[in-house]
Amino acid sequence: MTQTIVFASGKGGVGKSTLALNTAVTLAQQGLRIGLVDADIYGPDIPAMVGLTRRTPARSVTLWQADIPADEPVEYQGVKIMSAQFLIAEDQPLDWQMPLVGLLLRRLVHDVAWGDLDLLLVDVPPGTGDLQQELFALVPDARVVLVVTPQYAAHLDGRKLVSMLQRRTISIVGGVENMSGLDCPSCGDHIALFPRVANEYAIWGQGVEELGRIPFCAVDSGRGTPSPLVVSAPESAAGREIVAFAKKLTSILD
Ligand SMILES: Nc1ncnc2c1ncn2[C@@H]1O[C@H](COP(=O)(O)OP(=O)(O)O)[C@@H](O)[C@H]1O
Ligand SMILES: [Mg+2]
Repeated sequence: MTQTIVFASGKGGVGKSTLALNTAVTLAQQGLRIGLVDADIYGPDIPAMVGLTRRTPARSVTLWQADIPADEPVEYQGVKIMSAQFLIAEDQPLDWQMPLVGLLLRRLVHDVAWGDLDLLLVDVPPGTGDLQQELFALVPDARVVLVVTPQYAAHLDGRKLVSMLQRRTISIVGGVENMSGLDCPSCGDHIALFPRVANEYAIWGQGVEELGRIPFCAVDSGRGTPSPLVVSAPESAAGREIVAFAKKLTSILD
């Protein structure tokens, strides 16, 4: 059985997709066989983050036929990627309700010709809604990496997610603080930008182990980022921190 790691957060925009993608590429560079599911059906950004476009002509997504062939993942930098975006037209919303969302998730996670994988990473929308519940029902042994920014609201919402996971005895591998300050490009000093969220308000106060702090990194070109920062800027502070996080992750999972 492949170990599944879900990159989750209470709040949106904290860097789940960025971290899931960069971690996947880093682990593939280290020789692991990695699958990456972009299960954020409301904002399936991962293909755009690496310049992948839909491979199939626009068609309605078939979810209820028992005999649909398994989807082929798209390989990028050694990572096998499956995304809701591969199944739909670019501007098509997936404004569906349960149980269709459940069927779509099943297709994205299970009905894919993954081959042998060491790890399956899953990127999800923020929060504790139906989609997350369905995913943890589909993959009951999934473990979670929580992503937060050093901001009160990110921890406030993150703590709700931690409580949900603890109540359901879903294993939390640890958390990552993203956009954790900035390394000054001219003098090299670390600028904190935000004060540290006090432990009693932070997910760390709920017993979540901190696995990394990823600083800001200005790699977004404004026209869609053509490659993840561990490829475009591996020597940046953020690139090095992501590699260190990926190492820690594999050592915990071993
Ligand atoms: N460490 C970082 N430095 C600079 N920009 C970042 C960093 N992490 C994420 N971003 C940017 O922040 C935005 C939100 O990140 P994203 O990964 O899409 O978050 P989420 O998946 O949690 O909604 C994206 O534009 C992304 O490029
Ligand atoms: Mg995302």
